[in-house]
Amino acid sequence: MNWRKIFKPSAKLSIFTLVIGGAVFGAVAFYAGQTTLHATSTDEFCMTCHSNHSLQDEVLASAHGDNESGIVVNCRDCHLPREPFAYLQKKIAVSPDLWRFVTTPGFNTQEHLEEHRLEWAELTHDYLRSIDSSTCQACHARVYDDPPPENMSRMAVGMHTMNKNRDEAERETCIDCHKGVAHPYPEA
Ligand code: HEC
Ligand code: HEC
Ligand code: HEC
Ligand code: HEC
Repeated sequence: MNWRKIFKPSAKLSIFTLVIGGAVFGAVAFYAGQTTLHATSTDEFCMTCHSNHSLQDEVLASAHGDNESGIVVNCRDCHLPREPFAYLQKKIAVSPDLWRFVTTPGFNTQEHLEEHRLEWAELTHDYLRSIDSSTCQACHARVYDDPPPENMSRMAVGMHTMNKNRDEAERETCIDCHKGVAHPYPEA
């Protein structure tokens, strides 16, 4: 067997074969990626590392788990963006968590969560600000409707209208006003 032969662009492999081969490889890689990303976006997946943290119970006790519509909002609905590119970016950004999980003694304890809650809440707010709370807006799409939804409280209509009429640079994003909508927000 001559190794050099393998790496030499072969005349026998026509361009056609290379293109088809590339397309098949691409499709397989894409599918595998999709499946992995999907499996890494369920509540169960989040709770594999956070299993001793009260996070899921907190959601169930909040308006996002205990409401008249009977809807339980999933972790990913708030924490992961929906747009495929932003989603991939976030996934890559959080992959060091696997390393931290393995190397942080006592990570998966309630004490560790309480100790870091404020710091993590701020990281989460920074992230949500960076995407203009797009995950919140995906469900609450009518907040800035004109006229406002008829069942929205007057206080809410007043604040949302005021915010909408601000210059873009001054405008606040959902979580600037709505902290602790799923977990108890730690007052500093
Ligand atoms: C591989 C283990 C692991 C999995 C799975 C995991 N996390 Fe985490 N998570 C961590 C670790 C470790 C930290 C602490 C990171 C640090 O010290 O900054 C963390 C921190 C966080 C924070 C705090 C803010 C931040 O950005 O660091 C949030 C929010 C969070 N996780 C949400 C989630 C959600 C939602 C899921 C499911 C999509 C999830 N986690 C799945 C290990 C994990
Ligand atoms: C998957 C859809 C979904 C997502 C994502 C979502 N919400 Fe909600 N939200 C709901 C539902 C359902 C309710 C309960 C409505 C009811 O009371 O019937 C609710 C209720 C609320 C309320 C009123 C109750 C309260 O706690 O004061 C606020 C405020 C709110 N959401 C803000 C947010 C913010 C901020 C985000 C992003 C961090 C967000 N929501 C993400 C579906 C969602
Ligand atoms: C300038 C502050 C401010 C901003 C920004 C803001 N809100 Fe509100 N929102 C309020 C206030 C104040 C209320 C009324 C009190 C409450 O329910 O918390 C309210 C109420 C709500 C409610 C309950 C409405 C009802 O009465 O049925 C939802 C849902 C909500 N906001 C979602 C959002 C979402 C999603 C965003 C981002 C698109 C957002 N808000 C941006 C201040 C704000
Ligand atoms: C309705 C939206 C929403 C849902 C659902 C949600 N979170 Fe959060 N999460 C937030 C917001 C907003 C923060 C930032 C802190 C705050 O405002 O309370 C946060 C903060 C966190 C933090 C940092 C610690 C803290 O309390 O601030 C972790 C870890 C976390 N979430 C994990 C999860 C996991 C795991 C799930 C699913 C079991 C989940 N979240 C479901 C919106 C949500």
